[in-house]
Amino acid sequence: MNILIVGSGGREHSLAWKIAASPLVKRLVAAPGNPGMAAQCELRNVAVTDVDGLVALAQQIAADLVVIGPETAVAAGLADALAAAGIPCFGPTAQAGQLESSKAFTKAFCDRYGLPTSAYAVCEDAEAAKAALERFAPPYVIKADGLAAGKGVVIASDRAEAEAAIEDAFGGRFGQAGARVVIEEFLEGEIGSLFALCDGKTSMVFGWAQDHKRVFDGEQGPNTGGMGTYSPAPVFTPELVEQVRARLVDPAFAGIAADGAPYRGVLFVELMATRDGPKLVEFNTRFGDPECQVLMLRLKSDLVPYLLACATGRLAQIPGPEWRDDAAICVVLAAKGYPGTPQAGGVIKGADADFGADAVVFHAGTTRDAQGMLRAAGGRVLNVCARAGTLREAKDKAYAAVDAIDFPDGFCRRDIGWRALG
Ligand code: GLY
Repeated sequence: MNILIVGSGGREHSLAWKIAASPLVKRLVAAPGNPGMAAQCELRNVAVTDVDGLVALAQQIAADLVVIGPETAVAAGLADALAAAGIPCFGPTAQAGQLESSKAFTKAFCDRYGLPTSAYAVCEDAEAAKAALERFAPPYVIKADGLAAGKGVVIASDRAEAEAAIEDAFGGRFGQAGARVVIEEFLEGEIGSLFALCDGKTSMVFGWAQDHKRVFDGEQGPNTGGMGTYSPAPVFTPELVEQVRARLVDPAFAGIAADGAPYRGVLFVELMATRDGPKLVEFNTRFGDPECQVLMLRLKSDLVPYLLACATGRLAQIPGPEWRDDAAICVVLAAKGYPGTPQAGGVIKGADADFGADAVVFHAGTTRDAQGMLRAAGGRVLNVCARAGTLREAKDKAYAAVDAIDFPDGFCRRDIGWRALG
């Protein structure tokens, strides 16, 4: 098979790593990819939102399957354009993608189909949003309605901070994504990320992990796209997985199909395990980043049949995935300044070393300069991942690799996995 992977982050590098190991693959191309992905893919410099360019590339390489990584490509309508061109695609249509691209859409969807989530208010201007704060207690959860690369959520401890976040959003900090703001009730509990595949009719749970969203150790500092993950996470008891499937996954796939947009791809359910059971925090219409990295390390089955089955409506014909019993962990190395303004251009040495069996570094925001030197070119720069019999061993292995990488302008959290390890 010829496969085109769309994206350039750590998520896409881990997908490329796993897909490249499949005996079904003849040719693997990434657009635009990153320097690390060059080890598995041919790279083509087409942007993830250049829908026409990506369709043309898929035709040029006679792609049997296109795998969409990021939400921006989903929102741009890539799956719709590929469907029109008759090219199988792993990834939902832009209509189904509203489950991620509009938080207001998703809240109304939850109301319509009875999915448990937090109380909320959708506000069209700053004055209305400030007034709506009256209906909530601190900490206040303020979210830009649209896509904001994981940075559109502020948890404000007091009213002044909440009002500043509202001013920021309506002041244009997130562009059009902040033209509407959703204020939510703060949910108490433990956070989790669960993934489910769907081919438009049939669905299956496809693993889970726990992310660390705050930028600093001890869950301090602003929210990020995710600073590290591990899987399996003890919060996901069999009972919780079953509740998430029954209360969130199945109704979501049924609801979006009833809306006329059957879902093809992976749905990422970000949930809070509360005293009243799981509640939806957010849906994402793609694999999590860096959740995908630990899932790919633990996935024993060949990934390609699952991606293809979602794209072609054949998920009912294959058994559920097999997972390794091992634990996997991912530590994000970010550029100083992230999630604000990351320092660009920092030199990175040693990222391509051999860190031993079951340790792997996935690239994210990296570039190579004219001399071939690896440099930072984004907020989250590298994903240092490891797998071992226990989470403690996996963590030690990952941080040994982190310490061997020379990236003076970078930083990471040191406490990934703390909820499981104490
Ligand atoms: N790690 C959270 C996300 O991918 O949105």
